[in-house]
Formats: sequence, C-alpha cells, structure tokens
Amino acid sequence: MKEKVSIIGAGNVGATLAQLVARSGLADIVLFDVVRDMPQGKALDLSESCPLWNVSVRIKGTNDYSDIKDSNIVVITAGIARKPGMSRDDLLTTNAAIIRAVSSELVRYCPDAVVIVVTNPMDAMAQVVLGGTGFEPNRIMGMGGILDSSRFRTFVADELGISYQDTEALVLGGHGDQMVPMPRYTTVRGIPITELMDRDKIESLIERTRNGGAEIVGLLRSGSAYYAPASSAFQMVKSVLLDEKRVVPCAALLNGEYGIKGVFAGVPVILGSNGVEKIIELQLDDSEKAAFLDSIKSLERLLSKI
Ligand code: APR
Repeated sequence: MKEKVSIIGAGNVGATLAQLVARSGLADIVLFDVVRDMPQGKALDLSESCPLWNVSVRIKGTNDYSDIKDSNIVVITAGIARKPGMSRDDLLTTNAAIIRAVSSELVRYCPDAVVIVVTNPMDAMAQVVLGGTGFEPNRIMGMGGILDSSRFRTFVADELGISYQDTEALVLGGHGDQMVPMPRYTTVRGIPITELMDRDKIESLIERTRNGGAEIVGLLRSGSAYYAPASSAFQMVKSVLLDEKRVVPCAALLNGEYGIKGVFAGVPVILGSNGVEKIIELQLDDSEKAAFLDSIKSLERLLSKI
C-alpha cells in the first residue's frame, strides 16, 4: 500500500504542496478544505495531470475528515494568510482556533501521523497542535526554518552571482521578525560568507531575509508566499516518507536543548520516519545566544496570548 499524505487546507500552499507530492509519485494525497467542492476540483485537476507526469498516485479532494484516516503524514496549511501590513503574529487568534479544531480530527483519524505545521504563526501553531493532540513531540514540527534558510540562500547567491545550489544557510529561532539568521553557518560550498562579503552586506541580506515573507506579501497585495513555503514543506515530507534523515532547520519542541524547555523554536534537526529524530545543539557565541533568547522570549509572549 502507498504512503498517504493528507494536506489540511487546499489554498495556495496546500494545493502547491499537493502538486509537488503528486509529481514525486511518493504518496497518495488527500486534500481537505472546509470550502465545498474546491478541494475536489483541485484534486481532479491534479489527477488529470498524473498521466502527463507519469505517476500513479491517487489524489482525493474532500470536505470530510474521515478521508484522512491512517495518514502517515499530515501537513496543516489551514487558516488565514497575511494581508499587506499584517505580521504573522496578527493571525494568532483566528488560526489557533482553526488549528485546535484540526487537532481533534487528527486524534480521531490518524493518531500515528507525523504532523508538519505550516499555518502561521507557525511556531505557536505547532504548540497548539501539541496541546490539542497530545502526540509525542517528535511527531510535531513546524516548517519555517527551511523557508527562511532558503530565502537567505537565494539572497546570498544573487549577491555573489553564483548558483543557488552552492549556498547553504542556517536560520534559527522563531519564524517571525525575531528569526536569527546565522552568518557563521551560512556558506558557499563550505566557505563561510563572512569570508566572501563585508559585514554591512551580510547585515542587509539578513534584514531582507527577516522581511522575506512581508516583501512577497507587499508585492502580491493579496495572499502570501506559497511556492517556497510549499517547497520547504515538501522537503520535510520527503525526508520523513523516505527516512532520508536530512539535516534541516525546523521548529521542534526544545526539551532542555539550548537551555530552553517546552517551547517550539527553529533549530537544526535530523528528520526521518519518526519525525524529529534528533535536535542538533550548536555552540552559540554570546551574541548568537542573546539573539536566540530574544527570539524565544517573543515566542513565549505570543504563546501567552492564546
Ligand atoms: N479547516 C480546513 N481548512 C480551512 C479552515 C479549516 N477550519 N479554515 C480555513 N481553511 C482553508 C481555507 O478555506 C483556504 O482554502 O485554508 C486555506 C488557506 O489557504 P490560503 O488562504 O490560500 O492561504 P495560504 O497562502 O495557503 O496560507 C496558509 O500557511 O504560510 C501560511 O501564513 C500562511 O497561515 C497561512 C497558511
């Protein structure tokens, strides 16, 4: 039997992710939304592409939660997206209520699933899933670090005029304005960017990375980014499905690592079939530690509002 990936929320991120999973041929897909007929329409459109993609997966669109039964992975993209001028944190109350409702359906229909949270504010929403499902923390993770790192990689590559593939980047902390891009761990084929660019240039790329989501929201005028968010979620789905054990930054529940307990925050992890299989603890220097702790504090402030 094929693996099963369910995507809750068939909007821009959800449908784009469904396309990536379908094209990979790795798993059957259930695309759920509360809007009537829309997920069915998107699923049909995607299914009609499968002959052209030479894949044999089945894609089902639905408004009925029972269809997500026994999913191996559930990706949550349900909720409202940002409008110009809104921060991710402005979505808190509305999306928390949606995620609570989704969580009880996960308990009911796929208590063994690995859950990837995309809905913003993503770190806080991962916490809501933990509270709402009671699943083991290693099976719950937030997408965010991969996206922020990919944005940083893009800006570094554009600045140096080199291939995107040859850049690596690491962004820690919350997936918000307090994210912590880490120049020391951001490299071009292993060469730290601190050897390739001056400090001011690096600072400007960090600032652009911090505002990466808002930059796109401003340009789109309606809705927020979805190609890179869906691609980031797909990298996580693939690493779990194929037990690839990729080392990626994503939001994981800290249990003493980095001196923090009980908060989801972006850290490097090993992702495999058991979800977050290990959190990698870096030796941060004093200023990195201070920035990371600031980021944690703003996450805690946010959590105190829900
Ligand atoms: N259950 C399931 N789906 C829901 C629910 C719910 N309770 N409430 C809303 N939705 C659906 C909407 O009907 C919509 O189709 O979630 C979908 C969200 O899609 P978009 O509005 O296109 O938003 P998108 O760009 O996909 O972003 C989704 O991911 O990146 C984050 O900040 C972003 O929180 C947002 C989420």
